[in-house]
Amino acid sequence: MGYRVAVVGATGAVGREILKTLAERRFPVSEIVALASPRSAGSEVSFGEERVLTVKNLETFDFKGWDIALFSPGASISAIHAPRAAAAGCVVIDNTSQFRMDPDVPLVVPEVNPEALAQFSNRNIIANPNCSTIQMVVALKPLHDEFRIKRIVVATYQSVSGAGKEGMDELLANTKVHYVHDKNPPQVFQKDIAFNVIPQIDHFMDDGSTKEEWKMAVETKKILDPKIAVIATCVRVPVFIGHAEAVHVEFELPVTAGQARAALRDAPGVTVHDQRLDGGYITPAEAQGEDAVFVSRIRKDPTVEHGLAMWIVSDNLRKGAALNAVQIAELLIEQKLLPRMAVTGTAAPA
Ligand SMILES: NC(=O)c1ccc[n+]([C@@H]2O[C@H](COP(=O)([O-])OP(=O)(O)OC[C@H]3O[C@@H](n4cnc5c(N)ncnc54)[C@H](OP(=O)(O)O)[C@@H]3O)[C@@H](O)[C@H]2O)c1
Repeated sequence: MGYRVAVVGATGAVGREILKTLAERRFPVSEIVALASPRSAGSEVSFGEERVLTVKNLETFDFKGWDIALFSPGASISAIHAPRAAAAGCVVIDNTSQFRMDPDVPLVVPEVNPEALAQFSNRNIIANPNCSTIQMVVALKPLHDEFRIKRIVVATYQSVSGAGKEGMDELLANTKVHYVHDKNPPQVFQKDIAFNVIPQIDHFMDDGSTKEEWKMAVETKKILDPKIAVIATCVRVPVFIGHAEAVHVEFELPVTAGQARAALRDAPGVTVHDQRLDGGYITPAEAQGEDAVFVSRIRKDPTVEHGLAMWIVSDNLRKGAALNAVQIAELLIEQKLLPRMAVTGTAAPA
């Protein structure tokens, strides 16, 4: 007994991680289909250790009778096919930016705002936040509950896998040519990403911020609290997987580093690794393949009244995308919000 699950964008960095996560967490699947563009229809992707799925063409796929679709094919493709799947009765969990700020679509991080999930029936679509937002709000929610956040100043160090499989290919290719004293013209990124850092992710907005920086601000408000002020600087770094963030937080109430550490110690999804000695913190390479959001370097910010500084790291493909999406699907089951459960591949009546 299980659900009929579609993974859309299954050949991509996020889609492959979704398939891996579903298998690892033994998500109750009675049937699973991998969907992508016509370019990769017929190719194969792994589902767990033993199963291989033949990729099907999203354009011609009929979602009728399918229970859940986990989408990560890019915003413009989700814009067309997510509403089509939703209209066919399939609940969509979308990883792209397409629906995140739609007031009728809940933007959910299960550890932070599980109560928002119930609104999914407005459109049959649930949005997964941006990878950088997810790890930040998971770590800040327990601190907001206790000490009330007023303002967040964050600088990100985001890995190239945040730009998908082509981003990873470009870092590898550009790094190789550096060793032969040559350079590749950048295609995915705005400048050479090898041995460099780039202070631009997504396109520029009218106010001089980038869309990634805007997303961190508006998504944090939607998920955590509209009153919180957020200013972000988002930077691409030559790391394959794992995003890091230097986060400076101003609170309404007094807070010490020790109180913050205590509040985070038992928080869901958070691992505090904070030793004040050489190497006593987590780096992106160590977070790769892990589920947790790691918090290190917690210390007082003496430049504001009630301030803390900290270092937050997580695997952007896991908690930043696939794991969060699968946790949302699990929450739908837990809260008995799925309209039906398929039995041996056939959708049962509601
Ligand atoms: N990477 C991250 O850390 C991350 C985190 C959160 C959210 N996201 C979002 O998730 C989405 C995917 O990211 P990604 O990193 O997985 O990108 P990716 O590695 O480039 O993969 C893109 C996927 O979309 C599919 N696709 C492209 N055009 C399509 C079409 N016309 N019809 C059907 N499928 C199509 C691709 O299939 P083909 O192989 O057939 O081209 C591939 O499976 C993006 O919107 C991204 O912003 C990414």
